Amino acid sequence: MQKDDISQAVFELRAGNLVAIPTETVYGLGADARNPVAVRKIFLAKQRPSDHPVIVHLHDLSQLPEWTRDVSDEALLLANTFWPGPLTLILKKAPTVHEIITGGQDTIGIRIPNHPVALAVLKAFGSGIAAPSANRFGRISPTTATAVREELGEALHLILEGGQCAVGLESTIVDMSGSTPVILRPGMITAGQIEAVLKAPLAHHKNNAPRVSGSFHSHYAPVTKTLLCSTEQIDVLLTKPKENIAILARTFSTDHPSVIRMPADPLHYAHDVYQVLRELDKKNLQEIIIEQVPDTIEWAAIRDRLTRAAHSIIR
Ligand code: TXA
Ligand code: MG
Repeated sequence: MQKDDISQAVFELRAGNLVAIPTETVYGLGADARNPVAVRKIFLAKQRPSDHPVIVHLHDLSQLPEWTRDVSDEALLLANTFWPGPLTLILKKAPTVHEIITGGQDTIGIRIPNHPVALAVLKAFGSGIAAPSANRFGRISPTTATAVREELGEALHLILEGGQCAVGLESTIVDMSGSTPVILRPGMITAGQIEAVLKAPLAHHKNNAPRVSGSFHSHYAPVTKTLLCSTEQIDVLLTKPKENIAILARTFSTDHPSVIRMPADPLHYAHDVYQVLRELDKKNLQEIIIEQVPDTIEWAAIRDRLTRAAHSIIR
């Protein structure tokens, strides 16, 4: 990490410009969260609807009172256990937070990321950085600096290099602003891990819960037609193979030229999957076929993103 890059990032943020920042989940498109003109640039660059709230990133729990109010002991317990890390908490917002951050809601999403570059920028900047994933609205989140450049290059003053993201999928979002905790977006911190810390079961996502853009059905999607298939269906497909397709296989090995081996365990799978889909999307394939992943708590976040990436699920 270059010290100069961190200083330049802080300079750009203070000037109201956008900076792409690596985090352990995915790259974020950062702006000064106290500057509504700067935050508006995020929406323009992403072509994201303006009523969608953005997450504010902090570097230390001591900053929480500047952004939130009435934080429960349970929320603090999660914060202390999982931050810095791939968890976003939805909390009641402090009165001073601008509505462009919250999408006009009474809540705010907060996260302390676990990446040396993100933490260095946050610390040097000293305030909150609003940062959604650095992709155009509805597309796959970038997990490398190169992917950010491909997505948004022209709109950015600076893209900080931070290597490939260790986690590879967006953070788990838990709404801690109501009477019971609710998972709004599954991530690699699982419902089981959260329940174990809270010593209480989590409620299921309700329709009247706050907006999460990942809740739109066609989110995180490649442009190429993408299908989610069972292992048996892929077996059949391999007996009469089509040309110009890719098959993301998890359980079987074959030397079929269309088959791409994916990791068998969820941590490595999550780390690789967006990058694999992004590269395949450049190849003008007819179809991307993905072998379904297990319906277990460890795979929940991956299953969620694959379901959104797929244009149809073959049952
Ligand atoms: O891992 C991550 O969370 C990455 C990195 C960059 O931190 N960020 C990310 O941001 O995925 P974004 O904007 O792409 O997704 C955050 C989601 C959005 O769908 C947004 O609607 C939701 O969080 N969100 C933010 N504030 C919220 C709030 N107050 N209430 C409900 N949902 C909220
Ligand atoms: Mg996103």
